[in-house]
Amino acid sequence: MFRALQLVLREKRSRIIGPGSPGFVVNAFSSAASSQSQQRLAGKVAVITGGASGIGKATAAEFVRNGAKVVIADIQDDLGHAAAAELGHGAACYTRCDVTDEAQVAAAVDLAVARHGRLDVMFNNAGVGGEPQPPPLGATDLAGFDRVMATNARGVLAGLKHAARVMVPRRSGSVICTASMAGMVGLGAMADPSYGASKAAVLGLVRAVAAEMARSGVRVNAVTPGAVPTPAAIRSFAAWLPGKSDEEVRRIIEADVNMVVAGTVLEAEDIARAALYLASDEAKYVTGHNLVVDGGFSVTGGVASRSTQSE
Ligand SMILES: NC(=O)c1ccc[n+]([C@@H]2O[C@H](COP(=O)([O-])OP(=O)(O)OC[C@H]3O[C@@H](n4cnc5c(N)ncnc54)[C@H](O)[C@@H]3O)[C@@H](O)[C@H]2O)c1
Repeated sequence: MFRALQLVLREKRSRIIGPGSPGFVVNAFSSAASSQSQQRLAGKVAVITGGASGIGKATAAEFVRNGAKVVIADIQDDLGHAAAAELGHGAACYTRCDVTDEAQVAAAVDLAVARHGRLDVMFNNAGVGGEPQPPPLGATDLAGFDRVMATNARGVLAGLKHAARVMVPRRSGSVICTASMAGMVGLGAMADPSYGASKAAVLGLVRAVAAEMARSGVRVNAVTPGAVPTPAAIRSFAAWLPGKSDEEVRRIIEADVNMVVAGTVLEAEDIARAALYLASDEAKYVTGHNLVVDGGFSVTGGVASRSTQSE
């Protein structure tokens, strides 16, 4: 039955633009050309927290390439100003915004609206890793937990709240929050338990608010990166690899930590493209989702990684 339906549809399609008809070539060519030149965020305005470095910086570049205006919100002023200058001041600007301070998150959102008249995309991406080598559980410093939660969980809630404040009245918008594999699976000694808890909280927040926001036309999703050799990740892994240069640590992350898809490595740009999809209208019916970009690590427990390397 299904097969018969497919054949009928194929037959109909080939009558409209058959491989032999001149229209077929023109259509195939123009659709390839238009997808190349298409700006998937044309006219949209985004705030990216943690946009001065790593995944946030790569996402700012991807968004601008796709026609968006971007407000980079971070606490590293020099890097933030430099990132905005690289992208061009018409397309990007930098504002100091510590996400642990709700008033600064509100101000970053208000800046986007004041400069560009609207906010379409909020990327709650700023994060801290906690202790690279956490002590045994019995020696945990709870002040460290509060610090990590203040940025990674409370900061994300502040971003959600102030995005909602300006998006809900317009009944449109996309909020993306950066989670982590540490929020999905136990990474043992590789991650501070506070970090894992904070990223599980990010996933919990996304799921908790998705229905309310969907009723207002606003989508909320998470993106979960595998190990990407950003400055933060290199610092964190370096603690386990004394004597290794940053370049050596980068290669170890790329080749040994999560190389699951043979012949390729995970880059910040891969996460940027996942965020681009969630930000764009192509994802108009996607909400409450966690888009995992980890080469399958979290569903294979890294097994695929080991077998790939031994082949
Ligand atoms: N790199 C990875 O392997 C990896 C994996 C999973 C999740 N993540 C998450 O991705 C996000 C981006 O991290 P990254 O790897 O690009 O690291 P990064 O250090 O390159 O970038 C993080 C940015 O967040 C900013 N930031 C930190 N605290 C802030 C605060 N209180 N207010 C505003 N900005 C603040 C930093 O200044 C920095 O520019 C984080 O949420 C991180 O937890 C990274």
